[in-house]
Amino acid sequence: MSATLITGIGELTTNDPDLGRPSSSAVVLDADRVAWVGPEDTAPAADLRVDVEGRAVLPGWVDSHTHLVFAGDRTAEFEARMAGEPYRAGGIATTVAATRSATDDSLRDTLRRHLAEAASQGTTCVETKTGYGLTVADEERAARIAAEQADDVTFLGAHLVPPGTGAAAYLDLVTGPMLEAVAPHVRWADVFCETGAFDLDQSRRVLAAASARGLGLRVHGNQLGPGPGVELAVEVGAASVDHCTHLSGADIDALAGSDTVATLLPACDLSTRQPPAPARELLDAGATVALASNCNPGSSYTSSMAFCVATAVLQLGMSVSEAVRAATWGGARALRREAGPGAVGVLRPGARADVHVLDAPSATHLAYRPGVPLTWAVWRKGHRIR
Ligand code: NIG
Repeated sequence: MSATLITGIGELTTNDPDLGRPSSSAVVLDADRVAWVGPEDTAPAADLRVDVEGRAVLPGWVDSHTHLVFAGDRTAEFEARMAGEPYRAGGIATTVAATRSATDDSLRDTLRRHLAEAASQGTTCVETKTGYGLTVADEERAARIAAEQADDVTFLGAHLVPPGTGAAAYLDLVTGPMLEAVAPHVRWADVFCETGAFDLDQSRRVLAAASARGLGLRVHGNQLGPGPGVELAVEVGAASVDHCTHLSGADIDALAGSDTVATLLPACDLSTRQPPAPARELLDAGATVALASNCNPGSSYTSSMAFCVATAVLQLGMSVSEAVRAATWGGARALRREAGPGAVGVLRPGARADVHVLDAPSATHLAYRPGVPLTWAVWRKGHRIR
């Protein structure tokens, strides 16, 4: 692979505290890494030069929360919701039934299609989950297929107690044979800690078993109402707690005093008619915030991180730079991938060569021109994919 020198940058977002947002800068990519960032007039020679003619350059989006191993369609449920029906966790069972009936190849193709759709919009690092199998064989299959294509895979056997199964027996399965079967394919475990899914004690048990098996922890919490998800995530040192829509002051303080990232999913809150998440309060308290798409066929069927950024600015009161940072560095931090060689969500020497060029002079246009496809070029691991 040849080295590429990117010049003519209008606004450069590096997310590196030492580099900041340098003006008149250039970036060199060599193989799968960023090799150099600095003033254009001192840039080293490279095999290829790409003049972006004043466009904005930022790290590729890091989408730290998706559910992409699925089959089927929930258009009817979405239409009913738009007509006034509430979103219910029980809708997950519709996708579980379709996913169990799908072939391995059709699950692979659906995953590939959604990852390609996301990449074409500037997403270069994606976490995805199991959670639509809910048997040992179906969860193992989902984890294995996800691991073939996604950057990070999370075990979410504790998504819902499948209809027809008792909660106690299902928890024995999730914390025993199911965990053993998926463990070789996954880095993280998660639990949907919410009324209608798993309560505090059940969730704690799932996370304890996963931690004992060596997996990192994440939590779905405080999505549909107040609850103990955030408290539990902080208690167990989870890398992130995702949704964070209904938070108390104590939840916000707990997050601010912890290393647990508050991952906000604004497209999901819009699609499920939930109130906007308290992004401003979290940021003002000092919590680390990530933005993610939550792409799934039920509650948030979008792969567009640009839409999430625009919504975070227009609806949640985040500044453009806070939202862009949350959708790049914040997602990387939620996946514990923001530091060291091959880091994502940052542009600095040694980071993964994941670069997003907007067809706009600044990232402000993401919110100023919402809904307009602004991705102009994308490099992932040094390969130009758009
Ligand atoms: O993150 N909260 C639980 N899981 C998904 C919903 C998935 C679905 O409705 O299929 C979420 O929103």
